[in-house]
Amino acid sequence: MSSVRERDAAAHDTRLSALQVICMSCGRTTTGDHALTTCPHCGGLLDAVIDLDRTLTPEAFARVPGSLAGQSGVWRYAPLLPALPADKIISRQEGNTPLYWDERLAAYAGLTGGRFGVKHEGHNPTGSFKDRGMTVALSHANAVGARVIACASTGNTSASLASYAATAGIPAIVLIPEGKISISKLSQTIAYGATVVQIDGDFDRALKLLRELTDVYDVYLANSVNPYRPEGQKTIVFELLDQLGWQIPDVISLPGGNLGNTAAFGKALSEAFQVGLISKMPRLVTVQAAGAAPFAAYYESGFDHYEAVHAETVASAIKIGDPASIERARRSIELTGGIVTAVSDNEILEAKAMIDRAGIGCEPASAASLAGIRKLVRDGEIEADATVVGVLTGNVLKDTDAIAAYHLKDEPRHEFANRPVSVPADLDALKKVLDDAVHG
Ligand code: F0G
Repeated sequence: MSSVRERDAAAHDTRLSALQVICMSCGRTTTGDHALTTCPHCGGLLDAVIDLDRTLTPEAFARVPGSLAGQSGVWRYAPLLPALPADKIISRQEGNTPLYWDERLAAYAGLTGGRFGVKHEGHNPTGSFKDRGMTVALSHANAVGARVIACASTGNTSASLASYAATAGIPAIVLIPEGKISISKLSQTIAYGATVVQIDGDFDRALKLLRELTDVYDVYLANSVNPYRPEGQKTIVFELLDQLGWQIPDVISLPGGNLGNTAAFGKALSEAFQVGLISKMPRLVTVQAAGAAPFAAYYESGFDHYEAVHAETVASAIKIGDPASIERARRSIELTGGIVTAVSDNEILEAKAMIDRAGIGCEPASAASLAGIRKLVRDGEIEADATVVGVLTGNVLKDTDAIAAYHLKDEPRHEFANRPVSVPADLDALKKVLDDAVHG
């Protein structure tokens, strides 16, 4: 771990003065060489500035063996990321996640002449897409000499931050809504050694509290309001397009909570388009849980009327009632002619059961990607012959309580429940179970 003196030196690293962030409200730019989450002039959210005044070809993203670009599915896309000093990068070889095409899921979604693929972000080092943003945020924090790094979280950001902060040797503090995040994510965060603060309130309250703290205390905020986080998350889109030979699918769907990812996806597509990597935009579809759907309601109003809600959903990762990146996400939807929709908890759980039974598996929030497409195809908003990629944001083991609640509870709506059978320890009983399994 570096000393305070070394960190002070890092804070004045001249290589950082080339970094720039731009306010999406007032349009003013600021150098990105220190920890900033809002515009110093007007308080608006900030975007990292990327040089788009050039043409890039896929060769720019070669997997050079042994290099960082060869190992990390984030840093491979460095030409479209902020130019952080190479020796400050904190990477756990994140990204490189699989893209699976699955006919059963396509049929479930109603894509009769189309295709459904899943980009599985649960294959990241800590089991969620957050690692992609975290490698960039932690590298920036490391480069600017952050002494403590913090986030509010519904569980995945905290696990990812805890892991990357431990890798960097920077103390981490996470605020979580007590009793409202999955035990698997809480356990991960504790295990990686972060200081865990449980608050008597929801995620929205935790994030507000933390943003107040960063105004008065020198702490590096790692939530997606930090402009470096979405930069890493853009690489989900870059890698997906790369896997498709830089051909676009018709639709990319993803779950929406705090909306950092929706914001990042729009920025990625816009940048890929501007540097000539793609010549058309896919439509972005953001899917919220019906009990936590302020963005879907905002979309329904023609982006005219926004109201925060009190969030309730079984998909605890997206139990968010007042998303911080709502305006950035709106920009993504408008830019891509996208759609925002909401699905019930039951639709989410059923879609999750389908994804799980396909042998793929994901956490509840991720399954909103499929549930939303099924709904939109049924409603005629997406053509049945479309090629759709749904992003699965988290691993199946991220919420084992949700699995038990679905499969073990005697609940008629849980149509795909797979209850373990208990038998006496004898061969005849076992044979009967096998006969039932084979013959139904
Ligand atoms: N899916 C999962 C598994 C998540 O953990 C999250 C967000 C989302 C989707 C929504 O992404 O916020 O960019 O719209 N989890 C955050 C957290 C809030 O604290 O882990 P978003």
